[in-house]
Amino acid sequence: MTDIREYLREVGKRIEKSLQRYLPAQTEFPEKIHEAMRYSVFAGGKRLRPFLVLESCRVCGGSEGSAMPVACAFELVHTYSLIHDDLPAMDNDDFRRGLPTSHRKFGEATAILAGDALLALAFNLLAREVREPEIAQRVILELSAAAGSRGMVGGQALDISEPPQKEKEEYLRCVHEMKTASLITAATRCGAIVAEASPEDFQALSLYGRNLGLAFQITDDILDAGSRGEALDKNAANNQALPGLTYPALYGVKESRRIATELIEKAVSALGKFGQEAEQLRQIAEFVLARES
Ligand code: IPE
Ligand code: IPE
Ligand code: MG
Ligand code: MG
Ligand code: MG
Repeated sequence: MTDIREYLREVGKRIEKSLQRYLPAQTEFPEKIHEAMRYSVFAGGKRLRPFLVLESCRVCGGSEGSAMPVACAFELVHTYSLIHDDLPAMDNDDFRRGLPTSHRKFGEATAILAGDALLALAFNLLAREVREPEIAQRVILELSAAAGSRGMVGGQALDISEPPQKEKEEYLRCVHEMKTASLITAATRCGAIVAEASPEDFQALSLYGRNLGLAFQITDDILDAGSRGEALDKNAANNQALPGLTYPALYGVKESRRIATELIEKAVSALGKFGQEAEQLRQIAEFVLARES
């Protein structure tokens, strides 16, 4: 496990360097919006989604250079989603990763705009930096579908609405799949697309991403539930007060852990065909289960 953390840190540094290049300078007019965009992008995220793009591309024989703009586009969309997720109208959180949330630091209007601009920049980056038009088109299709109302935004919309009284289990799974697993699955699929992977490799990485994505949100909910006074410095109480359904709330923490573990096993078994090359993807899946932030 220490190995994968080290590896993630190393890859993360290269992702960070590219993000530095792709984001407008803080001094560029209008300065405040660029400062706000940079504030959230460089606030210490784990870079899981860009990592998954790069690793999925690598196991399919693609180069890191060709996948890097795609990886960064995913991180921009992810960052936008978090800025908006924290807003008073959504989860109303004051802290993220130990720092004041965007709206606490820059005000609500600027936080909304910073999110908007990051989303737009992601697609600008793809259109500009992905050289092969057919690959660019496929990646843009994947990311836009995963981010929109049939994916992440749809899941967020369900998350803030009243859950049904019946069939809560299926509903909860659907919300998690949409709000979190869509983007994570699209990340692994886009890595495969950049590498011009075979349909079999593409399918295997899709399956890996979907199971990993679902497990990721379950562990996030477990961490949120147990975060009062613990490692996570976020407004768990606020999060809980909102209408919403989580795995620990529905199943309890122990059963949620079992479900997450089973999903991670499925994710890992989808990687079988890649052999030793997929060791990092395997370990990152274990890391998702064991993570504390
Ligand atoms: C948090 O995602 C939001 C969820 C989808 C659960 P991460 O835990 O990947 O966020 P950072 O970027 O590493 O802080
Ligand atoms: C939703 O999950 C994350 C997004 C899809 C933006 P949470 O609301 O649980 O994410 P955290 O806990 O604030 O990071
Ligand atoms: Mg939320
Ligand atoms: Mg939240
Ligand atoms: Mg959460």
